Amino acid sequence: MSFGRYDNKNEVNVTESNIVRRTNINEISIMNIEQLNQQFQDKSPEEVLRFFLEKYKGKIALSSSLGIEDQVLTDLVAKVNKDTRIFTLDTGRLFPETYSLIERTNSKYDIKLEVFFPDHTEVEKMVKAEGVNLFYNGIDQRKRCCQVRKLEPLKRAFAGLDVWICGLRRDQSVTRQAVQMVEWDEGNQLIKLNPLINFTEQQVWDYIKQHQVPYNKLHDKGFPSIGCQPCTRAIEPGEDIRAGRWWWENPDQKECGLHRR
Ligand code: ADX
Ligand code: SF4
Repeated sequence: MSFGRYDNKNEVNVTESNIVRRTNINEISIMNIEQLNQQFQDKSPEEVLRFFLEKYKGKIALSSSLGIEDQVLTDLVAKVNKDTRIFTLDTGRLFPETYSLIERTNSKYDIKLEVFFPDHTEVEKMVKAEGVNLFYNGIDQRKRCCQVRKLEPLKRAFAGLDVWICGLRRDQSVTRQAVQMVEWDEGNQLIKLNPLINFTEQQVWDYIKQHQVPYNKLHDKGFPSIGCQPCTRAIEPGEDIRAGRWWWENPDQKECGLHRR
């Protein structure tokens, strides 16, 4: 299969009807992304991962927030190829239960999650100017904190990668309904792969229970979606699963910038 700049032979499949984007390295065909989405639409996450982990060996990584989706993907990735990079962004504001889960996950699969930290100079500058809890002061301050604590480390984690695996699901929120299984991430110049895109929350939990995948203890205490401690609260029965994330903001604002569309 031809896949633009990612094709082993560097061949580029360009037809008149193709929409072709220029990258500074080569070309990528949007047609091919569409073809891949069609090819994989009825395939299981495991089949999708097998294909990509083989094709992009050494140039593919899973970014894990240690949420239930990422734990399912970690289980699958570790079973297909244990040497695959899995990284997490430690913002410095995570829950103790999340740190404990990093250890339990490493131990269960005999792997080592790579942990990326923010640049301390940037954190110090930000905190000096706007305080430790600046995110409660407004959307700009919240986005600045996410930029410093998540997005800058993410750029470093991307070094050497062609494909970024994420745990996005369409039914997670209004901001994710148009997400595709395979996407071209223009901002990061990477293929973004969302193998669980069509999974429901129930299917994720079924997998977790069936395969005894370790999960964050906070899920049993009313936290369906877990991010940083000061920006996550438990939800009430009947509330949306992401209602506890940045709960003081409008639902259509609730993205930290990792998944810009
Ligand atoms: S967020 O944008 O609201 O924080 P969410 O928690 O739903 O995102 O996670 C969506 C996907 O983003 C995860 O499946 C994971 O791939 C990636 N992600 C989110 N937070 C992190 C993190 N701290 N470290 C690594 N990847 C993350
Ligand atoms: Fe900062 Fe909250 Fe974003 Fe974490 S989620 S990086 S604490 S604003």
